[in-house]
Amino acid sequence: MASSFSLAALGRAARNAVRALLVLPMALLVCFASPAMAAQWSADQLTVPATPDGTLVTFNEQEIKAGRKVFNLSCGECHAGGITKTNQHVGLDPETLALATPPRDNIEALVDYMKDPTSYDGEYSIADVHPSLRSSDIFVKMRDLDDDDLRLMAAYILVSPKVQGQQWGGGKIYF
Ligand code: HEC
Repeated sequence: MASSFSLAALGRAARNAVRALLVLPMALLVCFASPAMAAQWSADQLTVPATPDGTLVTFNEQEIKAGRKVFNLSCGECHAGGITKTNQHVGLDPETLALATPPRDNIEALVDYMKDPTSYDGEYSIADVHPSLRSSDIFVKMRDLDDDDLRLMAAYILVSPKVQGQQWGGGKIYF
Protein backbone atom coordinates (compact mmCIF):
# COMPACT_ATOMS: atom_id res chain seq x y z
CA MET A 1 0.00 0.00 0.00
CA ALA A 2 2.66 2.43 1.08
CA SER A 3 4.90 1.45 -1.79
CA SER A 4 2.16 1.81 -4.48
CA PHE A 5 1.31 5.27 -3.09
CA SER A 6 4.87 6.43 -3.35
CA LEU A 7 5.13 5.01 -6.88
CA ALA A 8 2.06 6.98 -7.91
CA ALA A 9 3.49 10.06 -6.24
CA LEU A 10 6.75 9.48 -8.05
CA GLY A 11 4.90 9.19 -11.36
CA ARG A 12 3.05 12.43 -10.71
CA ALA A 13 6.24 14.17 -9.73
CA ALA A 14 7.90 12.91 -12.92
CA ARG A 15 4.99 14.11 -15.07
CA ASN A 16 5.07 17.51 -13.37
CA ALA A 17 8.79 17.76 -13.94
CA VAL A 18 8.40 16.96 -17.63
CA ARG A 19 5.57 19.48 -17.94
CA ALA A 20 7.69 22.13 -16.23
CA LEU A 21 10.54 21.39 -18.60
CA LEU A 22 8.23 21.89 -21.57
CA VAL A 23 6.41 24.94 -20.24
CA LEU A 24 9.47 26.85 -19.10
CA PRO A 25 11.14 27.18 -22.52
CA MET A 26 7.77 28.01 -24.09
CA ALA A 27 7.23 30.78 -21.54
CA LEU A 28 10.76 32.07 -22.09
CA LEU A 29 10.19 32.01 -25.85
CA VAL A 30 7.01 34.06 -25.54
CA CYS A 31 8.73 36.58 -23.24
CA PHE A 32 11.99 37.04 -25.11
CA ALA A 33 11.69 35.70 -28.64
CA SER A 34 9.32 38.24 -30.16
CA PRO A 35 11.62 41.26 -29.85
CA ALA A 36 14.64 39.09 -30.60
CA MET A 37 13.04 37.70 -33.75
CA ALA A 38 12.05 41.16 -34.93
CA ALA A 39 15.76 42.01 -35.09
CA GLN A 40 16.91 40.78 -38.52
CA TRP A 41 20.47 42.01 -38.45
CA SER A 42 23.23 41.59 -35.87
CA ALA A 43 25.00 44.46 -34.15
CA ASP A 44 28.08 43.48 -36.13
CA GLN A 45 26.24 43.95 -39.43
CA LEU A 46 24.89 47.30 -38.25
CA THR A 47 28.34 48.58 -37.23
CA VAL A 48 30.40 50.45 -39.86
CA PRO A 49 33.31 52.92 -39.96
CA ALA A 50 32.19 56.45 -39.13
CA THR A 51 35.39 58.24 -40.09
CA PRO A 52 38.55 57.51 -42.11
CA ASP A 53 40.47 56.71 -38.89
CA GLY A 54 38.23 53.69 -38.35
CA THR A 55 36.05 54.96 -35.50
CA LEU A 56 32.95 52.77 -35.57
CA VAL A 57 29.27 53.66 -35.36
CA THR A 58 26.33 51.29 -34.84
CA PHE A 59 23.01 52.07 -36.48
CA ASN A 60 19.63 50.51 -35.73
CA GLU A 61 17.38 48.79 -38.24
CA GLN A 62 14.93 51.67 -38.46
CA GLU A 63 17.76 53.95 -39.52
CA ILE A 64 18.93 51.52 -42.21
CA LYS A 65 15.40 51.09 -43.52
CA ALA A 66 14.93 54.87 -43.59
CA GLY A 67 18.27 55.15 -45.42
CA ARG A 68 17.20 52.53 -47.95
CA LYS A 69 14.01 54.46 -48.70
CA VAL A 70 15.79 57.78 -49.32
CA PHE A 71 18.56 56.01 -51.27
CA ASN A 72 16.13 54.20 -53.57
CA LEU A 73 14.28 57.46 -54.24
CA SER A 74 17.35 59.64 -54.77
CA CYS A 75 19.98 57.26 -56.13
CA GLY A 76 18.13 54.11 -57.14
CA GLU A 77 17.81 54.91 -60.85
CA CYS A 78 21.59 54.56 -61.17
CA HIS A 79 22.72 52.65 -58.06
CA ALA A 80 19.97 50.09 -57.29
CA GLY A 81 21.58 47.05 -55.68
CA GLY A 82 24.86 48.91 -55.16
CA ILE A 83 25.98 48.89 -58.80
CA THR A 84 26.50 51.94 -61.01
CA LYS A 85 24.49 51.42 -64.19
CA THR A 86 26.42 53.87 -66.33
CA ASN A 87 29.89 52.98 -65.00
CA GLN A 88 30.29 49.36 -63.93
CA HIS A 89 33.81 50.08 -62.71
CA VAL A 90 32.77 52.52 -59.98
CA GLY A 91 30.16 50.63 -57.95
CA LEU A 92 29.17 51.10 -54.32
CA ASP A 93 30.70 47.80 -53.14
CA PRO A 94 33.15 48.01 -50.21
CA GLU A 95 36.27 47.19 -52.28
CA THR A 96 35.63 49.89 -54.86
CA LEU A 97 34.77 52.45 -52.17
CA ALA A 98 37.94 51.59 -50.24
CA LEU A 99 40.18 52.08 -53.29
CA ALA A 100 38.79 55.50 -54.22
CA THR A 101 40.77 58.66 -53.49
CA PRO A 102 40.00 59.61 -50.81
CA PRO A 103 38.66 56.22 -49.61
CA ARG A 104 34.84 56.40 -49.48
CA ASP A 105 34.26 53.38 -47.23
CA ASN A 106 33.13 55.36 -44.19
CA ILE A 107 30.11 57.52 -43.30
CA GLU A 108 31.97 60.84 -43.29
CA ALA A 109 33.54 60.34 -46.73
CA LEU A 110 30.26 59.17 -48.28
CA VAL A 111 28.37 62.17 -46.89
CA ASP A 112 31.15 64.37 -48.25
CA TYR A 113 30.70 62.71 -51.67
CA MET A 114 26.97 63.48 -51.61
CA LYS A 115 27.79 67.13 -50.90
CA ASP A 116 30.58 67.45 -53.47
CA PRO A 117 31.40 64.27 -55.44
CA THR A 118 34.84 63.85 -56.98
CA SER A 119 36.32 61.76 -59.75
CA TYR A 120 37.52 58.30 -58.62
CA ASP A 121 41.10 59.57 -58.40
CA GLY A 122 39.96 62.55 -56.31
CA GLU A 123 41.39 65.00 -58.84
CA TYR A 124 38.32 67.07 -59.66
CA SER A 125 34.70 67.73 -58.66
CA ILE A 126 32.04 65.91 -60.70
CA ALA A 127 29.15 67.81 -59.07
CA ASP A 128 27.97 69.06 -62.46
CA VAL A 129 27.34 65.46 -63.66
CA HIS A 130 26.64 63.62 -60.36
CA PRO A 131 23.75 64.46 -57.98
CA SER A 132 24.95 66.38 -54.91
CA LEU A 133 23.92 69.16 -52.58
CA ARG A 134 26.35 71.40 -54.42
CA SER A 135 24.52 70.75 -57.69
CA SER A 136 20.96 70.64 -56.35
CA ASP A 137 20.06 73.38 -58.83
CA ILE A 138 20.46 70.74 -61.59
CA PHE A 139 19.62 67.62 -59.53
CA VAL A 140 16.41 68.85 -57.93
CA LYS A 141 15.79 65.66 -55.94
CA MET A 142 18.79 66.63 -53.80
CA ARG A 143 16.99 69.75 -52.57
CA ASP A 144 14.79 67.80 -50.17
CA LEU A 145 17.67 66.05 -48.41
CA ASP A 146 19.17 67.17 -45.10
CA ASP A 147 22.33 66.03 -43.31
CA ASP A 148 20.46 63.28 -41.54
CA ASP A 149 19.18 61.85 -44.86
CA LEU A 150 22.75 61.82 -46.21
CA ARG A 151 24.02 60.07 -43.09
CA LEU A 152 21.29 57.39 -43.28
CA MET A 153 21.95 56.78 -46.99
CA ALA A 154 25.65 56.37 -46.24
CA ALA A 155 24.73 53.91 -43.49
CA TYR A 156 22.56 51.94 -45.92
CA ILE A 157 25.41 51.84 -48.48
CA LEU A 158 27.86 50.45 -45.90
CA VAL A 159 25.50 48.06 -44.10
CA SER A 160 24.03 46.52 -47.28
CA PRO A 161 27.10 44.46 -48.27
CA LYS A 162 27.36 43.16 -44.70
CA VAL A 163 23.78 41.92 -44.99
CA GLN A 164 23.58 40.96 -48.68
CA GLY A 165 27.18 39.89 -49.29
CA GLN A 166 28.36 40.10 -52.90
CA GLN A 167 24.86 40.64 -54.22
CA TRP A 168 25.38 44.28 -53.19
CA GLY A 169 27.38 45.89 -55.95
CA GLY A 170 27.83 42.48 -57.56
CA GLY A 171 27.47 44.06 -61.01
CA LYS A 172 31.07 43.26 -61.86
CA ILE A 173 30.45 39.61 -61.12
CA TYR A 174 27.02 39.13 -62.61
CA PHE A 175 27.14 41.31 -65.70
C1 HEC B 1 22.33 59.68 -62.90
C2 HEC B 1 22.96 58.53 -62.34
C3 HEC B 1 23.40 58.63 -60.88
C4 HEC B 1 22.64 58.99 -59.78
C5 HEC B 1 21.18 59.40 -59.74
C6 HEC B 1 23.52 58.85 -58.63
N1 HEC B 1 24.75 58.43 -59.03
FE1 HEC B 1 26.32 58.00 -57.82
N2 HEC B 1 27.47 57.59 -59.41
C7 HEC B 1 27.06 57.65 -60.73
C8 HEC B 1 28.22 57.44 -61.61
C9 HEC B 1 28.21 57.43 -63.12
C10 HEC B 1 29.33 57.26 -60.75
C11 HEC B 1 30.78 57.04 -61.16
C12 HEC B 1 31.43 58.39 -61.13
C13 HEC B 1 32.86 58.35 -61.58
O1 HEC B 1 33.08 58.29 -62.80
O2 HEC B 1 33.75 58.36 -60.71
C14 HEC B 1 28.82 57.33 -59.39
C15 HEC B 1 29.60 57.20 -58.26
C16 HEC B 1 29.15 57.26 -56.97
C17 HEC B 1 29.96 57.04 -55.80
C18 HEC B 1 31.46 56.72 -55.77
C19 HEC B 1 31.65 55.23 -55.70
C20 HEC B 1 33.07 54.79 -55.50
O3 HEC B 1 33.29 53.55 -55.48
O4 HEC B 1 33.95 55.63 -55.36
C21 HEC B 1 29.16 57.21 -54.72
C22 HEC B 1 29.56 57.09 -53.27
C23 HEC B 1 27.85 57.52 -55.21
N3 HEC B 1 27.86 57.55 -56.59
C24 HEC B 1 26.76 57.76 -54.41
C25 HEC B 1 25.53 58.20 -54.88
C26 HEC B 1 24.43 58.55 -54.04
C27 HEC B 1 24.43 58.46 -52.54
C28 HEC B 1 23.42 58.94 -54.85
C29 HEC B 1 22.06 59.48 -54.46
C30 HEC B 1 22.08 60.67 -53.65
C31 HEC B 1 23.89 58.83 -56.21
N4 HEC B 1 25.19 58.37 -56.20
C32 HEC B 1 23.12 59.12 -57.34
C33 HEC B 1 25.78 57.88 -61.18
C34 HEC B 1 24.72 58.29 -60.39
